[in-house]
Amino acid sequence: LADGPLTGKHVLVTSGPTHEPIDPVRYIANRSSGAQGTAIAKALLALGARVTFVTGPAEVPPPQGVDLVAVQTAREMLEAVQAARDVDAGVFAAAVADWRVASASEQKIKKDSSELPVLEFAENPDILATVCASDDRPALVVGFAAETENVIAHATAKRARKGCDWILANDVSPATGIMGGSENAVTLITAQGAEDWPRMGKDEVAARLAQKIAEALG
Ligand code: C5P
Repeated sequence: LADGPLTGKHVLVTSGPTHEPIDPVRYIANRSSGAQGTAIAKALLALGARVTFVTGPAEVPPPQGVDLVAVQTAREMLEAVQAARDVDAGVFAAAVADWRVASASEQKIKKDSSELPVLEFAENPDILATVCASDDRPALVVGFAAETENVIAHATAKRARKGCDWILANDVSPATGIMGGSENAVTLITAQGAEDWPRMGKDEVAARLAQKIAEALG
């Protein structure tokens, strides 16, 4: 581990999408490359933190040097998050599927020309809100908000609703090109208000967030 302002601190990061099975070969998911979560884990490692990295099936490889927990579904992600002990800060960058298929089929659903399948959904647990309400809530909890309009208003409301300390909000409307791209333009929402960060690389967003976390925990 590197030596730095986060030496001795344990930070948990969730990243990537979750996959919710329909049957053994099909799933539903959110669009998420895992790029921002991975960059945040790297930036935290660089400042000396021990990082537990709970990731769904992401496109980018996980960083070297983390305590890696690979999961598929939201329920598995919640379990892995709850299993982490003595967490000083949590960064919830995963794009968790809001719903799962209520009863996934154990066998591949066969194509039947006379009848189309109908999927029934069940609500997934909100991992961020669950952690914020738990007895061993980390001292600092950071959530994300991907919005397509009224970014600050929606993210401020989300911060209150989820019970987290900070929300890193971004505008993912298609015109921004942020989704799947290498840059991000975020607003940090805290109890003190909203702070716009200039458009920058996802690794620079990560470095700046890691620095802020170090200051807050310091
Ligand atoms: O409600 P929404 O999905 O917009 O909230 C986004 C934030 O909540 C992100 O930090 C995301 O990782 C987290 N989240 C979660 N579990 C869910 C849904 C969202 O941890 N089931």
